[in-house]
Amino acid sequence: MKTKFISIQEALDTGKGEVSIRGWAHRQRGSNKLKFVVLRDVSNIIQCVLKKEDLESQWDEIDKIQVETSLQLTGTLAKDERAPTGYELKVKKVDIIGTSDKFPITKDQSYEYTLDMRHLSIRSRKMIATLKIRSTIFGAIHEYFRAKGFYEYHSPSFTPNAAEGGSTLFKVDYFGKEMFLTQTWQLYAEAGIQALEKIYTIAPSFRAEKSKTSRHLTEYWHAEMEEAWTSFENLQDHAEALLKLIVSKVLKENKKELEILGRDLKKLEPTIKKAFPRMTYDEVLKILETNANMKIPWGKDLRTIEEDELSKMYDTPIIVTGYPKQVKAFYMKEDPDNPKVVQGFDIIGPEGYGELVGASQREEDIDKLIEEIKAEGGDPKEYEWYLDARRYGSMPRGGFGMGVERIISWICGLDNIKDAIAFPRTMTRTHP
Ligand code: 4AD
Repeated sequence: MKTKFISIQEALDTGKGEVSIRGWAHRQRGSNKLKFVVLRDVSNIIQCVLKKEDLESQWDEIDKIQVETSLQLTGTLAKDERAPTGYELKVKKVDIIGTSDKFPITKDQSYEYTLDMRHLSIRSRKMIATLKIRSTIFGAIHEYFRAKGFYEYHSPSFTPNAAEGGSTLFKVDYFGKEMFLTQTWQLYAEAGIQALEKIYTIAPSFRAEKSKTSRHLTEYWHAEMEEAWTSFENLQDHAEALLKLIVSKVLKENKKELEILGRDLKKLEPTIKKAFPRMTYDEVLKILETNANMKIPWGKDLRTIEEDELSKMYDTPIIVTGYPKQVKAFYMKEDPDNPKVVQGFDIIGPEGYGELVGASQREEDIDKLIEEIKAEGGDPKEYEWYLDARRYGSMPRGGFGMGVERIISWICGLDNIKDAIAFPRTMTRTHP
C-alpha cells in the first residue's frame, strides 16, 4: 500500500498514533545507539527519535544522517515537553531519500556568507517564515484590487523612456539600440486606463541604485495601480485601505511566522485600528523643527534621517502630501491651489522603514508636461506616445506604486530589505 504522508503540523495537531511524515533534517545529534533528528517541512518542525535497537539493519545508513538529509519517517507520536514543538516521533521506519554533504550553513556565519549561500540559507526557518508572509502579502494585493473592480494589466520591462529620473536607469544594449529596464509601469498604465479605467499590477521594477542601504534593491517587486477619473483623496483612501488589508491578512494568517521572526504584534496592530495621519510637507517641516530640532529649507526633499525622525512620532504609516514641485517627477499634477507644490503623496512607514508608497494625480495639461519633461533633461519627442494620452480624450487620473519588499521588511521587522526577497539584487550582490 502506498504510504500516506501528512504534514508535520498535521502530525502535531493529531498528537498521537502512528503517522508518516517527510522533510529535511533541520538538526541532528546523538550517539551510536540513539539519534535525535529534528525534521523540518514547510509546515513546522518535530523532534524524531531513532533507536538502534529498533532500526538495527539500517543503522549504518542512519548514522550518516546529516543536516539537510531528506527523509521519510513513520513512527508513533508522543507528548514531550522538552521537544521543540512539544511532541516527539518515536521512529519505526526510516527511508533516506537524499543524503547530504556536510551542510555549509551553521549558526555563527557572517550575514554576507549566508547571502552568498542563499540557495541553501533559503531553508532557514526565518527565511521560510518571511517567504510565507511574502506570499500572503502578494495574495492580499491581488484580493484588494480585484474586489474593487480593477483589472490586472501588464507593461513591458524593456522601455525607451525614463519615468523616475535618469540617474537610476539601467541601460540595455537592445540589438545595438539603447533601451532601459523599466522603473515603473506608469507611462504604460496611463495609456491602459483609457481602455480599462481601473488597473493594477505586481511586477519587477529596476533601479540602478548606487546607494548601499538597508532599503534599496536594484530589482524590486512593485505593486502599482492606476485609475481613470480618480481624485487625490480617493488615491489616499485606496493606499490606506490596501495597507490595512495587507497587515490584517498577515496578522490573521501568519501568527506563527511572525512569532518565528520575533515580531512584536503590538507594533502592527495600530495600522489596522487607527486612521493614518495625513499631513502636508509644510506641516512636516514644522513638526520636525518643533519636535526634533531639524531645520529643513523649504524646497528640499525629505531625507532618510528626516523620514525616520518623523516615523518615530507615530505608530502607523503617515501620508505626506503637497511636496515641492522641484523634488518630484515630471508627471505629477500641479496643485490647482498652489503651483509650487504637486498633488502627490508619499506614505512613510513606521519604525523607520522609509517610503512605502509613492503616488500622485497626473498632470493633465500637455504644455506643462512638455515643460517638465524638458526641465528633467528629457526629449519630449521620445514621449510623444505618452503625450497622446492627453491629446485623445484626457481626464483626471492618478495612481501609486508600493515597494513590496519595503512592506515585507516592515511587517516582518527585518533589519535588511535583502531578506524580504529570495535572491536579492543590489549594486554589489548579483549572485547566486
Ligand atoms: O516613489 P516611486 O519612485 O514611484 C514610482 O515609481 C511611481 N511611478 C509609482 C506610481 O505612481 N505608479 O516608487 C514607488 C515605491 C516607493 O515608494 C518605494 O516603496 C519603492 O517603490 N521603491 C523601492 N523599493 C526597493 N528598492 C528600491 N530601489 C526602490 N525604489 C523605490
